Amino acid sequence: MTDRIQLLEALRREAMLGGGEKRIAEQHKKGKLTARERLEILLDPGSFEEKDMFVRHRSTNFGIDKQRPLGDGVITGTGTIHGRIVCVFSQDFTVFGGSLSETHAEKICKIMDLALKIGAPIIGLNDSGGARIQEGVVSLGGYADIFLRNTMASGVIPQISVILGPCAGGAVYSPAITDFIFMTKGSSYMFVTGPNVVKTVTHEEVTFEELGGAETHASKSGVAHFACEDEIDCLHRVRSLMSYLPSGNQSALPYIPTADTADRKCTKLDTIIPENPNQPYDIKDIIKEIIDEQQFLEVHADFAENIVVGFATLNGNPIGIIANQPASMAGVLDINSSVKGARFVRFCDCFNIPLLVFEDVPGFLPGTDQEWRGIIIQGAKLLYAFCEATVPKVTVITRKAYGGAYDVMNSKHIRGDYNIAWPTAEIAVMGAKGAVEILFKKEIDSAENPQSKAAELEASYNEQFCNPYAAAERGYIDDIVIPSETRIKLIKAFTLLANKKDHNPWKKHGNIPL
Ligand code: HXC
Repeated sequence: MTDRIQLLEALRREAMLGGGEKRIAEQHKKGKLTARERLEILLDPGSFEEKDMFVRHRSTNFGIDKQRPLGDGVITGTGTIHGRIVCVFSQDFTVFGGSLSETHAEKICKIMDLALKIGAPIIGLNDSGGARIQEGVVSLGGYADIFLRNTMASGVIPQISVILGPCAGGAVYSPAITDFIFMTKGSSYMFVTGPNVVKTVTHEEVTFEELGGAETHASKSGVAHFACEDEIDCLHRVRSLMSYLPSGNQSALPYIPTADTADRKCTKLDTIIPENPNQPYDIKDIIKEIIDEQQFLEVHADFAENIVVGFATLNGNPIGIIANQPASMAGVLDINSSVKGARFVRFCDCFNIPLLVFEDVPGFLPGTDQEWRGIIIQGAKLLYAFCEATVPKVTVITRKAYGGAYDVMNSKHIRGDYNIAWPTAEIAVMGAKGAVEILFKKEIDSAENPQSKAAELEASYNEQFCNPYAAAERGYIDDIVIPSETRIKLIKAFTLLANKKDHNPWKKHGNIPL
């Protein structure tokens, strides 16, 4: 009996070393943590329960059967984050460069299946050289098995991908299907084809970091939602994100205790909108003033900065915030901001996270670049996402709500539950200058002083249309509120809507304009 226990303990010790001490030292030399060290930081202390530690690969190609390390390059199991169960896999670069074999894929699929069965989030820590070259098509099949599971789990359990090393070729498509991608600056990269192939095909000279590093994907492509300073920062930020998410689409939202009070007035907000309607302000100042303890977890902070999305709590309850950002391109909606907003709205709707919209939008961005790249279809994504969402949906119009963008940003007409405006709101087809130029062109041209005529007409248009009262008269907004009372009103509204039930007609699935 003792012998057998000793054997088990010896095997466990062997598994702990993955590809061996030398490769662990190399991993550390690159400034990277091992797969196991990462799990220790990600999960609550002592909560990790490993599965399939004794799995070994079955391949005999290229003499690979002489090397059959325990675990086969991926550590899988369960643990807790803030006391709630999560399923995890962590690729071990010290074993065949974390490459994906048949058995490595089977381990990932098994833990994903468990996550789906028990309704727990799946978090994947990726650090891999891609398909295990020695295994050929079997490895490609393994990837496809994972992609299928990612798709089946989409909208059922939160799926988080953390990229902590290479992630190239077809391997990128598993993270791409998941809900959030975290990357580390300087030590992770994602691309379909690497710099060498790029050079051969397009003759472009580009570094790994420029082509697919964290900052590239967090700002240029929008592939990554978070670009983190280092691995520890990254894993801590995954934990922060998890604090706002339910375990699955059938689970209650977490409650985050707060010292902030439900009756707190936000007096700063009464003077925050500039007198000049063309002067920018930072919508994040407004968001932080209203939410609990100024704690805003911004998602996609460096991509399409003209829309701000992220998580916060109001009176301890998680909400998803989507806000036009007047401080970036006047808050205009363009292709990137529409797609960014749409994906966030759909994530929140999948997981029953109520939506709070702050609106100050002059419209959609004009120009050939936008039109030729399909702003019509891309902008429609945001519209579609708001239309189909059935979670509690609340809108605060702080200033401009012009044109089609008025409809799109969760208007009453597309099932906004509680739509309010500040007295500074301008709800109109367009701004005064544009409207007057179209409506009174002849009058202005023939006036003795065209400039002062235009100014006079603009002032009159402003008075008549650029306010919230015409919309309020028709019930298109539910109330006009004093800005400092917004937090109080929103908490009451979300409390009222907590048991909201709404539904869409039966369908296999909708056909969102992709
Ligand atoms: C088997 C691999 C491997 C792989 C790395 N290794 N990638 N073994 N299959 N795909 C092994 C190396 O032989 C080495 O073994 C160890 O892992 C570490 O690799 P190094 O090259 O020494 O590390 P580094 O210099 O950091 O470079 C990392 C790397 C490079 C950039 C990832 O290893 C690399 O280019 N690998 C191949 C990447 C690739 O082409 N993969 C297939 C992509 S196509 P030893 O024994 O020396 O420690 C793909 C298709 C997916 O993935 C399709 C899905 C639809």
